[in-house]
Amino acid sequence: MSTEMHYTPPTSDTIQTKPFPIRGERANFVNKPHVIAMVGLPARGKTYISKKLCRYLNWIGINTKVFNLGEYRRHATTAYQCHEFFRPDNIKAMAIRTQCAVDALNDVCHWLESGDGEVAVFDATNSTIERRQMIHNIVVEKMGFKLFFVESVCDDPEIVEQNIMEVKVSSPDYADMNKEEVLADFIKRIEHYQEKYQPLDESKESELSFMKIYNTGEKVLVYKHEGHIQSRIVYYLMNIHIVPRTIYLTRHGESVMNLEGRIGGDSDLSERGKLYGKALAQYIDEQDIQGLRVWTSWLKRTIQTAADVNAPQERWKALNEIDAGICEEMTYEEISSKYPTDFAARDQNKFSYRYPRGESYEDLVARLEPVIMELERQGNVLVVTHQAVLRCLLAYFLDKSADELPYLQVPLHTIMKLTPVAYGCKVERIRLPIDAVDTHRPKPKIPGYLDERYRSKGRNLHI
Ligand code: ATP
Ligand code: F6P
Repeated sequence: MSTEMHYTPPTSDTIQTKPFPIRGERANFVNKPHVIAMVGLPARGKTYISKKLCRYLNWIGINTKVFNLGEYRRHATTAYQCHEFFRPDNIKAMAIRTQCAVDALNDVCHWLESGDGEVAVFDATNSTIERRQMIHNIVVEKMGFKLFFVESVCDDPEIVEQNIMEVKVSSPDYADMNKEEVLADFIKRIEHYQEKYQPLDESKESELSFMKIYNTGEKVLVYKHEGHIQSRIVYYLMNIHIVPRTIYLTRHGESVMNLEGRIGGDSDLSERGKLYGKALAQYIDEQDIQGLRVWTSWLKRTIQTAADVNAPQERWKALNEIDAGICEEMTYEEISSKYPTDFAARDQNKFSYRYPRGESYEDLVARLEPVIMELERQGNVLVVTHQAVLRCLLAYFLDKSADELPYLQVPLHTIMKLTPVAYGCKVERIRLPIDAVDTHRPKPKIPGYLDERYRSKGRNLHI
C-alpha cells in the first residue's frame, strides 16, 4: 500500500522517551538484571507463560514482574473497536502500539534499575525483527541488561481456538461481544499479525539469545542461552504442560504429637488420624481419578495416612516436615520458655528464620523445588505431606508472597483440590468430617507472645 511506503515506523531513536538511567559499570557484572521478552502470534500462551514463569521465579526468591503490553495499549487508547486496530497498514494505531512498547520498556528498565527488580517479563507479541531489534537496543545496548527471548509457536488450530475461548472471551477488549463474535474478531486479529510475523531465526538474528517452544512443549529449541537464570528458565519451561489435571494436597491425619502440641518428630497417627486415612481413601476412590499417583514424605504419619489409598505410591524425603533442629518434639510453650529469643525472632521473620541446627521456610522452598518441577510434569497427583511443606507448595500454586507463606492456613483433615484455570489455579477445600486439633499459630502482635490456648499444649484445640 502506498500509505505504508511513506510511513516510517517510530524506533527507539525517533520516539520521545523518558530519559533512561545510565548503564554504569554493569557491563562486567555476572548477576545483571534480566529482561525476558515473549514472542509469538496472539493466543499462543505468552501471557500464560509470563505469569507462570513470574510466579515460579518469585517463589524461588528471584524478584520478577510482568509488564503486559496489552494493558499499556488499553490504557493508551479508548475502547477497543475491532480487529482493524491491528492491521499493519493502520498507521495511527501502529504509532500508538510502538509508543506503548517504548513506554512499557521504559517502565521495565526503570523498575530493574531501581534496585529490587531482578527479572522483568515483557509480555507482548514482539513478532517482528524490527521490534526485537528495538528491544535489544534499549535493553542490552543502552541499559546493559541481559535479554532472553521466549517464543511460543503453535500451528494447531484447535489449541488456538481453545485458547481464545478460554481466555480471550473474558478479555476487557471484548466486554460487549458474544463468544462467536469474539472468536471471529480474534482470528482476524491473528491474521493481521501473521502478515508481518517473523519467527525467531538464528540465521537472521544471530546476536540474540532465545528459546522456542513448539506446540505447548512438543519440541523445544534453545539458542545461545547464558548463565544461571536463563538455564533455570529454560529448564522450567521445558517441564510445564497444559493438559488438564488435578493436584490434591493434604496433610497427614492427626498424629500423636499433634495431640500433645509437639512439633516435628516421627510419631504415629492418633485414632482420629487413622479415621482420616480411611476417609481420605474413600474420598479418593469416589472421585475415580485417572492415572492417580500418590506421593508421601518418609515420615510414618504420611505413609500411614495414605496406606489405604488405592494408587501407586512414592516416598519423597524432600516432602518431610520442616526440620525444627534443637526444637524438634517440643511444644511452642516449651520453646518460648527455653529459647525465648529464638521464639521471638521467628515471629519477627518467620520465612527466613532458621531453627538452630534445623531449617527455615526459605530452606524448605529450596528443598521443594524438585518436587514442584516434577509436579509440573505430572498428571493427577495426591500429595500427603506436612503443614510447613504444604504452605510452601500452596504459595507456589496460589502466588503468595514470602511474608504470607508461613501463615497460610492448612488445617488437618482437609483436602485441597487444585485445578488449573485460565492463568492461575482454583483451590477447593474439602473438609472431611473427623475432628482434629488446630496446629496453626497466627502471627502474634508482639513477637514471642504466646496466646493462652498454646499453653494448653493443643490438646483442646479442636477445629
Ligand atoms: P495475546 O497475544 O493475545 O496476549 P497470548 O499469546 O498471551 O495472547 P494467552 O492469553 O497466554 O495468549 O493464552 C492463554 C492460553 O494459552 C491458555 O488457555 C493456555 O492453556 C494456553 N497455552 C499455554 N501455553 C501454551 C503454549 N506453549 N502454546 C499454546 N498455548 C498455550
Ligand atoms: O505442628 C505441626 C507441624 O507440622 C510441625 O511439625 C512443624 O514444625 C509445624 O507444624 C510448622 O508450623 P509453624 O511453622 O507454624 O510452626
